[in-house]
Amino acid sequence: MWIRKTRGWEIKESRATPEAVFRDRRRFMAGAAGAILAPGLLACEKEAGADTAAGEADPTADLYPFARNERYQLDRDLTPEADATSYNNYYEFGTSKNIVKAAQALPLRPWAITIDGMVAQPRTIDIDDLIKQMPLEERLYRHRCVEAWAMAVPWSGFPLAALVKLAEPTGDAKFLRFESFMNTEAAPGQSEAWYPWPYVEGVTLAEAANDLSFMVTGMYGKPAPKQNGAPLRLALPWKYGFKSAKGIQRITFTDQQPVGLWEAIQGSEYGFYANVNPAFAHPRWSQASERLLGSGERVPTQLYNGYGEFVAELYPDVNDRRYFY
Ligand code: MTE
Repeated sequence: MWIRKTRGWEIKESRATPEAVFRDRRRFMAGAAGAILAPGLLACEKEAGADTAAGEADPTADLYPFARNERYQLDRDLTPEADATSYNNYYEFGTSKNIVKAAQALPLRPWAITIDGMVAQPRTIDIDDLIKQMPLEERLYRHRCVEAWAMAVPWSGFPLAALVKLAEPTGDAKFLRFESFMNTEAAPGQSEAWYPWPYVEGVTLAEAANDLSFMVTGMYGKPAPKQNGAPLRLALPWKYGFKSAKGIQRITFTDQQPVGLWEAIQGSEYGFYANVNPAFAHPRWSQASERLLGSGERVPTQLYNGYGEFVAELYPDVNDRRYFY
């Protein structure tokens, strides 16, 4: 997410080395140095894929891969796993896209999920107990970041609707508020005082009940790596990616519309609904097209990220900007 305005000493993006060139250069350098650096590179690759450190084994690991739900089809190739798991937004661990190493400091077990607020019985459930009682499946989803990059990922998890059912919201509940972990020791970004930590996001109860809303526990047929939001994150594929909170620890049912972290910082640019729409530009850049992670190809952005058949009925006016930032 880009909040800062470019300062005098920063070069414009158009003058920076294009990412594809940079990547090729990295590949070239890795190849040239391969003979002497091989052990180091291998260690690095292992680190990127590691989900749990010694002593915090994931007791659900042998449940993967989950059976794929074929209802959710893609119009593009899957993003290579190496790209989807190494180009991340996770501000708890830094403002760059390269937070894989930093994110490994987050302890994933024990991990408790609190479900509270306007529900029949507030409770705290261990993540592994929660996973074991949910209907598990794999879905192929597009993901569109508000920054205009996109990926296509096989997520593993369960429908958010199943968790809503478990929670038994009372008749007054209208929204779900998702709160991510708070751990300043593991996540240095959380010591940056001008972000109102912890990360918060929210959806309406109707959005939560929509078939598309998915709680993610894994990707590419195994538990999700830390940098992608393990052990529990959201996937709301018709919305800009910042709505899909990672590292979730608390889900509160409420009658108050939640204010997300980005909305709290810059409400004129990052709203509550944040549905993808190429017709409404971000105040500082176009949303008409997106860059695919991996290939680097630019493709036209689709209304609701191509998921209109599932969600269009939730929003009364496709010309109302309120729903599209
Ligand atoms: N969740 C938390 N807790 N912290 C974050 O910084 N970034 C969001 C979202 N969820 C973010 C977060 C943004 S802007 C995007 S695009 C996606 O996570 C990125 O998910 P990915 O790193 O798995 O691609």
